[in-house]
Amino acid sequence: MQPTTLHLHTAFEVAPVDARLFGGFLEHMGRCVYEGVYDPASRHADAEGFRRDVQAALRRLRVTVMRYTGGNFVSGYHWQDGVGPRAQRPLRVEKAWDSQEPNQVGTDEFMALCRRMDWQPMLAVNLGSGSAEEARDWVEYCNGAASTRYGDLRAAHGHLEPYGVRLWCLGNEMDGSWQIGHCPPEEYAARASAAARLMRGVDPGIATVACGSSMLMMESFADWDARVLAHMDDAADFISLHCYVGNWSGDTRDYLAVTNLVDRQIEAIDAVARAVQAKRKSTKRIFLSFDEWNVWYRTMNPAGISGGGVFPAHLIEEVYNLEDALVVAGFLHSFLRHADCVKIANLAQIVNGIAPLLTRGDALLLESIFYPLAMVASRRGAVSLRVAVDAPSYTSATFGALHEIDASAMLDGDRLHVFATNRSVDTAAPLTVAVADRPLAHLVDADLLTGPSATAADSFEQPDVIRSVPFDAVRIDSGRAHLSLPPLSFAALTFSILRAARDVG
Ligand code: AHR
Repeated sequence: MQPTTLHLHTAFEVAPVDARLFGGFLEHMGRCVYEGVYDPASRHADAEGFRRDVQAALRRLRVTVMRYTGGNFVSGYHWQDGVGPRAQRPLRVEKAWDSQEPNQVGTDEFMALCRRMDWQPMLAVNLGSGSAEEARDWVEYCNGAASTRYGDLRAAHGHLEPYGVRLWCLGNEMDGSWQIGHCPPEEYAARASAAARLMRGVDPGIATVACGSSMLMMESFADWDARVLAHMDDAADFISLHCYVGNWSGDTRDYLAVTNLVDRQIEAIDAVARAVQAKRKSTKRIFLSFDEWNVWYRTMNPAGISGGGVFPAHLIEEVYNLEDALVVAGFLHSFLRHADCVKIANLAQIVNGIAPLLTRGDALLLESIFYPLAMVASRRGAVSLRVAVDAPSYTSATFGALHEIDASAMLDGDRLHVFATNRSVDTAAPLTVAVADRPLAHLVDADLLTGPSATAADSFEQPDVIRSVPFDAVRIDSGRAHLSLPPLSFAALTFSILRAARDVG
């Protein structure tokens, strides 16, 4: 392949990287909660019934913010079912996934897990079958003093101190016909504004996320978002984006170009949010909350997903391969490139069911997509830098023109983290990293993720087929780094950089 150069300059900042870009999503769906994070019967269970091995793996991903309880689940969920003495909590038939919900994990258990894992909670309220008042009461349960009605209930359940939940999603995917309580945008905006008003009446310090389009393919994409934001005045702080992708055509090169779609989705919704802001002559910018994203297609069923009366049902337990891991890396590139407008992003989901982790009995598998997440998790920086990619390009039939190499970068003082994906299926890429104003001093460390083929995957029987390995075949010469990026690979490189060009040598 023709050589690629990644050109950077430390003054060419995109924006500070919001730590909430590295969030997760824990939905009461399939085995994400039960047999996932929570499994009192497991030999890994801690005193509260949460699996220690799952917690340890999630710690490696340094997840910052956790969205809960759904997802589609939330549009039929009543939070009071999930608090109080466990033995008295109801067993419900859950409508979104046609499953059983025993309510053994609810608000207080989730908060305990957040505290242990150092996650910022992000709760979604029910604007499907629930009311604005119910949403308000939940805020009071979480954030009210013990002298308030629901704060007192929380205290009676043994939690005297308020939880201080800052982030609240105003429903979920209300543009989708599959959603309980689905309605036209103006009606959703009225519902969400009323809820936000009552919720802020309890705690003015909360931030709210309005439901944006649930996917780019929706006929109402962008129009829904514009109408919702226009009708919500200042009630929304963020607008949500969701995106699930897959190798529908069975063509790896085409699939790896899906990053173009993610870029386009972000840029379109940001443009809508700014246009609404301009029209309203408002000083308040609505930022983007990309609060569901991942690869999901093998286990997607347009006819609906049903637990079929089994508890817990094995739902959407996607097994990921190398190309999926490279696509996950692509999402991360895109979020960093758009750090000026994307402030929250939640990988959907965290364990069992479109997740980097899969449990089977007491065993735990780290799936291929775990590795790009971990590689970026261990290299977080303060500021996202623009990367000008000078590389050969190709054209994807579905997603248009793009570079063979995708890249992003973060700067953290004298540390520069560079991430690069080679989308070629058969050719290594000679790669140079050049920072115009500050020469590279040395490689601090690097990891490489690749594998025997695009479709190679990890399994319980062979867990080490796809995993990242330390990488040191990097030569620094005159302040620039040179390496060869294998086909179908993702590299994460950390360099120390000198203060100015004259410091070289
Ligand atoms: O993450 C699985 C489901 O995908 C969520 O419940 C829903 O919001 C989306 O359609």
